[in-house]
Amino acid sequence: MTERLKTITPAQGWRPDSWQQKLAGQQATYDDENELRGALARLAGMPPLVTSWEILALKKQIAEAQAGKRFFLQGGDCAEVFGECQSSIIANRLKVLLQMSLILLHGLEMPVLRVGRFAGQYAKPRSSDLETRDGVSLPSYRGDLVNSPDFTEAARRPDPARLLQAHACSAMTMNFVRALVDGGFADLHHPEYWDLGWVEHSPLAAEFHRISDSIGQSVRFVETITGQKPGSLKRVDFFTSHEALHLHYEQALTRQVPRQWGWFNLATHFPWIGMRTAEMDGAHVEMFRGIRNPMGIKVGPGMSASWLKDLIRTLNPDNEPGRLVLIHRMGAGKVGDHLPGLIEAAKSTGSPVLWICDPMHGNTEKAANGYKTRRFANIQAELEQAFDIHAACGSRLGGVHLELTGENVTECVGGARELNEEDLATCYKTTVDPRLNYEQALEMAMLVVRKHRSLA
Ligand code: PEP
Ligand code: CO
Repeated sequence: MTERLKTITPAQGWRPDSWQQKLAGQQATYDDENELRGALARLAGMPPLVTSWEILALKKQIAEAQAGKRFFLQGGDCAEVFGECQSSIIANRLKVLLQMSLILLHGLEMPVLRVGRFAGQYAKPRSSDLETRDGVSLPSYRGDLVNSPDFTEAARRPDPARLLQAHACSAMTMNFVRALVDGGFADLHHPEYWDLGWVEHSPLAAEFHRISDSIGQSVRFVETITGQKPGSLKRVDFFTSHEALHLHYEQALTRQVPRQWGWFNLATHFPWIGMRTAEMDGAHVEMFRGIRNPMGIKVGPGMSASWLKDLIRTLNPDNEPGRLVLIHRMGAGKVGDHLPGLIEAAKSTGSPVLWICDPMHGNTEKAANGYKTRRFANIQAELEQAFDIHAACGSRLGGVHLELTGENVTECVGGARELNEEDLATCYKTTVDPRLNYEQALEMAMLVVRKHRSLA
C-alpha cells in the first residue's frame, strides 16, 4: 500500500531575505557595507556544501529516530577555527565520533544517526557586543566567520572576507570527511583503524576493544553464514550541522534546486537555532520557517511552555515527521524542574519531535584558576536525569548533543582519568566552550549505554 502523502505547505510570505524585516540578534556589525555586499555576492555564486537529497535523507532518518528506531549522536567543537582545518584534527574528530557511535550501536542495539558539529560551526553568540580588558574595549570575538580571537583592534574587526574563508574551510572539511567515509575509513570490519594513538594507554581501552572485537566477529559471522559481504558495512552516513547564526551567510547559501519545491539551506544538513536567538518575532525563527531542512531548537531553562508551543507550531505547522529536533540544555540542577512541563507542551502540539540532551551548555562554570570548564560529573548527572525524566513523562530521550574533540585536551574536569582544575592548564585550547576530550567522550558514550540499559 502506498503511504498517503501529507501536504506540506510552503511558508507563507517567506523569502530568503524576509528575515531582514525582523530584529536579528547576535549579528556582526561590519564597517564597510560595500565590502560586505561584495563578499555575499561572491558567496551566493559559490557551490553549495551539501545537497537537497542528503538533507531529505537525513529528515527521513530523524523521522525514524522520532519513532524510536535510531539514536541521534551529535558532536564536535563548540567553535571550529580556520587554523584547525587540518587533516589530523578532522580525522581524529571523525574517529572519536565513529568510536562513540560504535559503542552506542553495540550497546543500544539500534542504528546511530551521526551528525557532526563541523564543516561550518564558525559563528558564536556572545553575551556582550564588546569585551573590555584593562580599560580597552573591542568587539567581542564572534567566531572565525566574523573576526579573530586575538585582543587587537585589527583582529577583532568583523571582516567580510572571512565569510568566503569559512565557506572554503567548510568545503575542505566536507571533502575530506566524504573521502574518508567513502574510502572505507568507517569500515566495520576494521574498527581498529579508528584508534587514536593514545587509546592503548587509556583506562577505557580494554572495554572499547572488547566492543570493537565483538562487532568485528559479528560482521565476519554474518558474512560467513550468508556468504555475502554487505557493502553497507563499509561505509556510514555522516551529516553536518552548525548553529545557523549569521543570517547573511546562511541566506547566501539558501537556494532552490531543480526538481524540488521550496528552499534548502545548502550550507549544512542540519542547522540549529541557538538559545539566544529563538525569539518568536526574531529574524532567526523567520529564516528557519521557510527552509526544508530538518532543524534543531535549543531549549534552555528560560523557555516557557507557551513559547515552545509557538516555536513548534511556527516551524512545523504541518506536523511533518523528521523536521524538528529539540535539544534541551538545562544544567544538572535545573533539568528536573524545567523539563517535564516542556515535554508536556511539545506533546500537546501533536507535532512529532525528537528530544535530545545537550548536557554541556547548562553546566559551564569558572574554575578557581579562571578557566571556563565543565565537570564530567555534572554532564553525566544531567544526561542520566534526562533519561529518567523522559521515561517518567512517557517520552523518550532519543539522542545526545556533545561538545567534544579527538584531541587530548584538558578542558573539562573529571572523567576516568580524574582531571582536576590544576590539569586544565596542560592543554586548554578551545576559543569558546570547554570540550570533552577523546577519552571523556568515549566514557560518556559508555555511560549512555549503561543508563539506557537500566531503563530497558
Ligand atoms: C552552542 O551550542 O555552542 C551554544 C552556544 O549553545 P546554546 O545556544 O544552547 O547556548
Ligand atoms: Co558551546
